[in-house]
Amino acid sequence: MKNKSICCIDNVFSIENLKNLITVIHGENTPLCYLHSFGCQQNATDGEKIKGMLAEIGYDFTDDTEKASLIIMNTCAVREHAEDRVFGNIGKFKKLKKEKPDTIICVCGCMAQQKHIAERIKNNYHQVDLVFGTFAYNKFYEMLYEVLKTKSRVFNISEQDDSINENLKQLRDSKIKASVPIMYGCNNFCTYCIVPYVRGRERSRPVEAVFDEVSDLVKAGYKEITLLGQNVNSYSYGFPQLLKRLNTIEGDFRIRFMSSHPKDATSELIDTILDCDKVCKHLHLPMQSGCNRVLKEMNRKYTVEEYAKIIDYAREINPDFSFTSDIIVGFPGETYEEFCETKKAINRFKFDNIYSFVYSKRSGTKAALMEDNISHKQKGLWLRELLLEHRENNVSWMSRFVGKTLKVLAEKEGRTSEHHLNGRSDENIIVEFIGDKALIGSFVNVKITKAMNWALLGEIV
Ligand code: 5AD
Ligand code: SF4
Repeated sequence: MKNKSICCIDNVFSIENLKNLITVIHGENTPLCYLHSFGCQQNATDGEKIKGMLAEIGYDFTDDTEKASLIIMNTCAVREHAEDRVFGNIGKFKKLKKEKPDTIICVCGCMAQQKHIAERIKNNYHQVDLVFGTFAYNKFYEMLYEVLKTKSRVFNISEQDDSINENLKQLRDSKIKASVPIMYGCNNFCTYCIVPYVRGRERSRPVEAVFDEVSDLVKAGYKEITLLGQNVNSYSYGFPQLLKRLNTIEGDFRIRFMSSHPKDATSELIDTILDCDKVCKHLHLPMQSGCNRVLKEMNRKYTVEEYAKIIDYAREINPDFSFTSDIIVGFPGETYEEFCETKKAINRFKFDNIYSFVYSKRSGTKAALMEDNISHKQKGLWLRELLLEHRENNVSWMSRFVGKTLKVLAEKEGRTSEHHLNGRSDENIIVEFIGDKALIGSFVNVKITKAMNWALLGEIV
């Protein structure tokens, strides 16, 4: 394929022409797409939107790259490891492309939005036909049309477009749980984080659009709705107000949300969670570090003491209130003593779960310029130490539920035995219990009998 740096859409594009072109290429056969989304739920949602667009023009989906005529890697840029995996994958597609040159290979999402990555793909990965970033979804049909018609490579990493396209309908992977973005982008510029650079500034969806989408999902039988935003607390139209509004929707369902920046988490948010019966009594509150100096260097804009206030406020009203957190280990300049402050903090705050990561240098961020003297290997050992510390204390903390009855959404077959089902409680804790598979997709009350380090065990009551 010849190289073309900028997407240039010729004026004969129309959806009809695109469909006709696909029919010319595939005849009676249904074209198949393999799409893999890496990273966070927001990215998974974008992947579901692309799937929705492809379904509209006659595509079906496959898990087998060999059968696909279109392969899409919807990528994540948060950590280097995710990027390495994508390069590993597209490296492997070189052989496939040689054998089946008509297969279209596409890389999109956060990683593709970075100029140096798009350049690297353009220069070194000629098997890739289409590259587009996080602002170009609206142009997907046009770009696909151009690739199919002209057989040229298309790159589109245009900068921010403030509009939110309400017309892109998701083709959802699950029939039980659905994610609903309420806002896009991030304004916080935590010094380690690439997200503000690849997802642009914050844009909120109108309350009515979110309300209508959630109402439709509930009507369609979805049981769990997760509201998504990098920091839902800065939702322009008021996040507690949105929760209250969504709580008025009738039906058998529950609401979750993520993430919530501690600098903006208020007692009003906690009160709202506690007051709204449909909202899960759980808050994912990324702490990142338990050391004030490191938090300042991270530009997190709160101290450990301020963070503690939110947890203490919630637990004073409801001692079982569940918190989970993200932790970064080995931020540039972090000493072992400072890391130990994070260990101390996780013991104090008793998280039901932590998602912990070794710091990953992201080019273009402020932290990438900071001095970093600790080896990656050493940081890996710190991470292990943190996880062991958490595991040691977690079972006794989870035991607070033994003897209590939790509302669990049965989601799939369990791990404990072939008779067990697996689901999550309102607190987002995994619960396993014996039950008929017909219960998958419905809520059940489960009396907890045992706490283990990865789940609670219980019996349906
Ligand atoms: N290195 C390691 N972890 C990171 N995160 C974000 N950026 C980085 C990075 N450069 C983590 C944070 C965030 C979660 C989604 O990913 O903990 O909350
Ligand atoms: Fe990244 Fe911080 Fe924004 Fe979260 S709040 S997406 S960690 S910059």
